[in-house]
Formats: sequence, C-alpha cells, structure tokens
Amino acid sequence: MDKLRICGNGPLNGEIRVSGAKNAALPILCTSLLTADTMRFTNVPMLRDISTTQKLLQGMGVRVMTDNVHEMEITADHLDSLVAPYDLVKTMRASILVLGPTLARFGEATVSLPGGCAIGSRPVDQHIKGLVAMGAEVVIEHGYVKAKAARLRGAHIVMDVVTVGGTENLLMAAALADGTTILENAAREPEVTDLANCLVAMGARISGIGTNRLVVEGVDKLHGCEYAIMPDRIEAGTFLVAAAITQGHLILRNAAPRSMESVLDKLVEAGAIVEAGDDWISLDMKRRPKAINFRTLPYPAFPTDMQAQLMTLNCVAEGTGVVTETIFENRFMHVPELNRMGARIEVEGNTAVVHGVDKLSGATVMATDLRASASLVLAGLVAQGETIVDRIYHLDRGYEYIEKKLGAVGAQIERIS
Ligand code: UD1
Repeated sequence: MDKLRICGNGPLNGEIRVSGAKNAALPILCTSLLTADTMRFTNVPMLRDISTTQKLLQGMGVRVMTDNVHEMEITADHLDSLVAPYDLVKTMRASILVLGPTLARFGEATVSLPGGCAIGSRPVDQHIKGLVAMGAEVVIEHGYVKAKAARLRGAHIVMDVVTVGGTENLLMAAALADGTTILENAAREPEVTDLANCLVAMGARISGIGTNRLVVEGVDKLHGCEYAIMPDRIEAGTFLVAAAITQGHLILRNAAPRSMESVLDKLVEAGAIVEAGDDWISLDMKRRPKAINFRTLPYPAFPTDMQAQLMTLNCVAEGTGVVTETIFENRFMHVPELNRMGARIEVEGNTAVVHGVDKLSGATVMATDLRASASLVLAGLVAQGETIVDRIYHLDRGYEYIEKKLGAVGAQIERIS
C-alpha cells in the first residue's frame, strides 16, 4: 500500500497547473448516458474516482476510449445492463449519479444504495424524492434503489436540503423529461453549473443556471458534444494553503479564481497577498499566517471540502481560529492525527478550536478520507522531520500526481510502497 514521505523544508516557490475538477467530471461523464451520440471530454483529471466511473459505465455496456492524458470519448448507444453494482458504488458514492440519466433515457435503473462513509451517513433521500415527484416508481430492495418510469415528467421540486449530487441527478433526469421541471433550493456549486453548461451544449433547455432555482424544459433527445471540464477549485485551494503555510509564493495556472472567492478571502484574511486573472491565481505569503475563523456552508460560502486544509493553516498560525462544520456530521477525522503532529485542537460537537503552535513535528499519520489526507500532507510540509502519510489511496481519489506537483515547486515529498 502506497504512502507519502514528506520532509518539511521551507517555502514553496514556482508554478503549478491545476487539473480538471473531479467533482465536475464525475457528473459530466454520466451525461454520456443521456445520448446515443459520442461525447468527447477534455481536461479530465486522471484520478482513481474517474477510473471507477469508467469501470461503472463500461460495466453497463458503455464504450469508453481514453488516451489517459486528460481526454475521454464515451458512447452509450446501447446499454447491456441498467445496474450499478454494490462493488463499485461502495468505493465511490458518486456512482449514484448514474441513476437519474439512466432512468430518464432507458426507463429503468438499479443502483446500489451508497450507505454511510467516513464523514457521515450521507443519505440519498432527496435524489429519490425528486425522481418520485417526476413520476418514477422507486423501491428499495436488497440494498438497491430500483427505479422505473416509461417517461419521466416535469415536476416542481423543493429540495429539503441543499444537495450537490441530488441537484445533479435531478438536473440530468429533467433534461429528458416530458415537460418543465423546476428545482427549488438547488445547489449552486460551480460543479453544478459546469454540468448544466454541458447539458446545454448537448441541447438541453435550462434557465437559472448558477442560481438556486433551476428551470428545465425537457427535450425528446440530446446530442453529443465536446466539453472541457472546469478547473478544480479544491485542488487549487489546497496548493494555495501549501504556499501560505510554507510562507512561499505560488502561481496557479488553469485555475478558476471566480469559483473560489470565499477561500481566497480567507487566505487574504490570514495575511496572504493574493492576485488573480481570468485563469490564474498568485499567492505570496511573507509572514506567519494569522488564525482565521470560518464555517462551512453551501456555495458561495466556504466549502466543506476545504475545511481540513484551512484547519492545518490554523494549526501553525498566530492566534486561535474557530472552525465550524455544518455540512457533514463527522468531518473532523483529521483532528486526532494533526494533534499527533503537535497541533492543539479541541473539538466540541461540530466546532473545532485551533490554537496555533510554533512548530509541528513529523509523525506517521493515517489518511481517513480524501480531504483529511490533504490536510496531513500540508501539515507534513511544515513539520520538523519526517512525516509519513499512510493509506494515501484516499488522496489518489482526488489529487492528480500530487507528489510531482508539490515536488516541482520545492517540496521534499516522495511516494513509497
Ligand atoms: C458533493 C461533493 C463532496 C462535497 C459535498 C458538499 C461530489 C462528487 N462530491 O457530495 O466532495 O463535500 O458535495 O459540498 O461532488 N443529504 C441529504 N439527503 C440527500 C443528499 C444529501 O440529507 O439526498 C445531505 C448530506 O448528508 C450532507 C448534505 O446533504 O449532509 C450535503 O450533501 P451533498 O451536497 O449531497 O453531497 P454530495 O453530493 O454527496
């Protein structure tokens, strides 16, 4: 099992190219299920979750061609199976995203229920509620969601919670439904917008894109298109924190600064000098970071996927920062590991109080989920001595060549078996 060995060695300096966004790519690859034509995707990140999606689609009979250098062609002219099996869904919850498009185009879909995960219980009731409102018959049997509808019909759906995956599933389903669907209290995350833009390029009729009220006029058929996946705002944010805590200077290329304003604001509050153009961000940190307070909330507020990384910044900052997690109930798994590296974090319910310390010390630590792993890598960059981050298969789900990217800007980091 692979591990990362990191030795804290001072400021990072240089340029990094940001990869395509994992969380945009996962739903966008599933749009292939909505058309018999070939879809061509560029800027696809080469990650473990992307190969899981590829396996999932291939298992259903979809043809996937990839050059493994960020391009993929997918043709779902026919399917052999309308089932997403447990073996794949258990490794990636986003597999639930095949439910909406498969049901909408083929009239039937069976997807294993994802179940809980390290960061919380993560139900899919809103996905199901929406599909039922659109006329689907849904039963849960033997751990699977089985949905049927000769043709989905438009409906007025008010989501009880803001859910990214739920909004995406229903958006894809509504694109081929009979009539108009209105999704109220929809998620506004940039990845939802990227999916909506891809659907529009396929011939879907969607208005309200980027707002929490999406109106979809269903069409009979969608066509193929070429689509470039947006840059990954969470990967970009992680590198910016790396620059801030090492008191370095990084320029990110192929970035999407407008999708990450809440994170950039917090980095400025921590004392960083941040500049940005349309597709680049520069962060220069000339001092020890100042501790910051933040609360995770749906977009455009501060993203839960950056909570662990900014917590690492607070660990080595001047002062005390208060972090509140409101999206997932169990997303402080990195705290005991950071404390093992010398951090001073106290957790009370969904709030963590982080007292900045002068130094972290390297230790062997265990990755528990994707973003928790990223926070431990960041801590390793500023810790004295050697840090070994174990179980980095979590990290490989969402960070492409992280050791190469960080190594190229001066980090001492290597992958070991
Ligand atoms: C997506 C992201 C994940 C991110 C999260 C929140 C992908 C592949 N993953 O996950 O990285 O952390 O958004 O920004 O895009 N909920 C319900 N019922 C539902 C659905 C969700 O109660 O039917 C709850 C969840 O338990 C959670 C909250 O809503 O507390 C937000 O979850 P959701 O936005 O759906 O997250 P994902 O789409 O799974």
